[in-house]
Amino acid sequence: MTPRHFLDLFKLEPVQLRAIVEEARRRKAARGARPTGAPDDDAPAAGRTLAMVFQRRSTRTRLSFDAAVRQLGGQAHIVDADELQMGRGETAEDTARTLSRLVDAVLVRAESHDELKMFAHAASVPVINGLTDRSHPCQVLSDVLTFEERVAPIFGRTLAWVGDGNNVCASWIHAAALFGFTLRIACPPQYHPDLMDLAKAAERGGRIEMMADPGAAVANADAVITDTWVSMGDEDYDRRVAVFEPYQVDAALMAQAAPEAVFMHNLPAHRGEEVDDEVIDGPRSLVWDQVANRIHAQKAILLWCWGLLD
Ligand code: CP
Ligand code: NVA
Repeated sequence: MTPRHFLDLFKLEPVQLRAIVEEARRRKAARGARPTGAPDDDAPAAGRTLAMVFQRRSTRTRLSFDAAVRQLGGQAHIVDADELQMGRGETAEDTARTLSRLVDAVLVRAESHDELKMFAHAASVPVINGLTDRSHPCQVLSDVLTFEERVAPIFGRTLAWVGDGNNVCASWIHAAALFGFTLRIACPPQYHPDLMDLAKAAERGGRIEMMADPGAAVANADAVITDTWVSMGDEDYDRRVAVFEPYQVDAALMAQAAPEAVFMHNLPAHRGEEVDDEVIDGPRSLVWDQVANRIHAQKAILLWCWGLLD
């Protein structure tokens, strides 16, 4: 049987994504103020293990998945890809076949999305996308939870993405189509999102509005979202910082959004570049809730992958 991989939001149906968000919300409420390392009462993943393979650095993804697995009653192994035989040439496919005999699911933070797909194709246990050059679905599903917790149901709302049309932006494009909200994207034309993502979103009825002007994008928006101008693997730092300079999210830009608009950023932030201190540290910033909710959303993702949630 093909395992339930979690590679991109577009691979799931809206009803499945909604079930994951609701399960995350339900489990979060049921835990109350229990310490992060304490398991849920039902420990539904007791005896299961998750391996996490990182080809790139991570703070939030590795530690939030570690907490997520513990809370479900299971265990996690965190490894840098360089420490595996993969680091000296064992193929992604053979690594996937090996890990499939040793653990119950594998999270991969891959340099290339194609490598993640090769890994998943060869794996016989669920594979989770922990970020690639093309997308970051765990982050954005968790951010939908955060938006709904702090603002309102996301269906019919308008969110604005300001900055690079990068991997995180791609997952927001997918989410807009699947959760039924409008996504306005302000980015310089040379750092436009992937056209395939925009085409797929349009096919699925997504309302994605592209523009160059950040002020137009955020006008009356319910959330202003950004990410670094220079992602891991990008090499043109000086050129990017110069091109993106008009796209900084500052108080003047936030003032053009809806009066109660929130600020969101997946982190790590580069303060003084894509966002200034006043906004990220301000009362409308949800960034620390975004971090905390990674645990809850990812618990529900793991349960879905393991067939413990429909
Ligand atoms: N947002 C996020 O995925 O952070 P890390 O790179 O620290 O995992
Ligand atoms: N766009 C960023 C996200 C980091 C979580 C990167 O890929 O580096």
